[in-house]
Amino acid sequence: MSCRTDSTPLSPPSASPPPAAPLPAALSWLEPALEHLEAEGLRRLPRVRRGRQGREVELNGQQLLNFGSNDYLGYSGDVRLTRACSKGSCAEGFGGGASPLVSGQSVAHQTLERAIASLLSVDAALAFPSGYAANAATIPALVGEGDLIASDARNHASIIDGCRLSKARLLVYPHRDLTALEHALAAAGPAKRTLIVTDSLFSMDGTIAPLADLSEIAHRYAAMLMVDEAHATGVFGDRGSGLVEAAGCSDGVHIRVGTLSKAIGAAGGFVAGRASLTTWLSHAARAWVFSTAHPPGVAAAAARGIALVGEEPFRRQQLLHKAAEFRAMLASRSVSTTSDSATERSGQIVPVVVGEPHRAVTISAALAEAGYFVPAIRPPSVPEGGSLLRISLSWHHTEADLTSLAEAIGAML
Ligand SMILES: Cc1ncc(COP(=O)(O)O)c(C=O)c1O
Repeated sequence: MSCRTDSTPLSPPSASPPPAAPLPAALSWLEPALEHLEAEGLRRLPRVRRGRQGREVELNGQQLLNFGSNDYLGYSGDVRLTRACSKGSCAEGFGGGASPLVSGQSVAHQTLERAIASLLSVDAALAFPSGYAANAATIPALVGEGDLIASDARNHASIIDGCRLSKARLLVYPHRDLTALEHALAAAGPAKRTLIVTDSLFSMDGTIAPLADLSEIAHRYAAMLMVDEAHATGVFGDRGSGLVEAAGCSDGVHIRVGTLSKAIGAAGGFVAGRASLTTWLSHAARAWVFSTAHPPGVAAAAARGIALVGEEPFRRQQLLHKAAEFRAMLASRSVSTTSDSATERSGQIVPVVVGEPHRAVTISAALAEAGYFVPAIRPPSVPEGGSLLRISLSWHHTEADLTSLAEAIGAML
């Protein structure tokens, strides 16, 4: 069996879809709901991507410089991952078959989990079908009725959904406001278990959680601390394991979540920590117990991506250097990014807040006209009035790419 590992794009489908039949009465609310989204500037129009994504991407037939992907280290189109996927698929077949509890775990998944545990220097890891599933399943497996969760106001939707599913009492503290967090915990009264949960690098704001202080607060309140490193895995830390490592607080973070879909260039999510934690999750995390594992070839590609993080530290070093340079380029053109970016460690997600959704869409479209793919991020991904241009940097970007984008944005704002 052989698989294509060249970069020839697949042809787009030739037949156009049949005309839509009229909606049945029970679904008649859908059209007005979509029109409302349109009027508010909140309608999303899916784009068709052709070929691999990297420094450039072809969207709806237009070749653009790609500032809209979470492929931070440039591995998603890397032939080494494609080959690993092909080899893993050839060895173990493509489909996952059933939940790992039912049909067994593939060797590729076992290898991947060991690679993750080794990267994070923890006992064990559990691979989930996605990062979303990891968060949404882990929180209800750890806390329930009678328990307490403290969650940062800007946490990712999958954390929010996990909190809702858990039925635990929820305290949402203002973004990174530790004084408010402490007041809320002190005022909350007794709970059987307490969980503090935060993103490490916030996906839309580009801000970084004060992890060392959070671990100290968690210790004082005998709370579990769960940190989602979706955007930090592979990018931060000497070993590339994330911001927990970079902040030197690995011992104080009990539950480490990550995704394999961003810097690692593959797909899937994981939870890592003590062996008893992952063993418990393999019984209680419903998205692990009741969902088919992602394909062994995907696990093999993810394991290759993890290995590359160890083999190619220069990619993350250069990426963070480029990010700092790009922020400086924007600042010199009076374009402000996250308010505290100058005073703390900053990352590869550079948001430029523009306010209203229509404005974000208009500027994003103008940037596309000029040859740059910079997505407009609107509610509910960000709060009302906080629509932004989310610039994701990749290791592939050149200094000339960054300068020209900074110039284009400076001229448009
Ligand atoms: C902070 C955070 N956590 C989890 C996820 C979900 O990860 P995945 O895309 O692997 O489902 C995302 C996705 O964007 C994210 O930003």
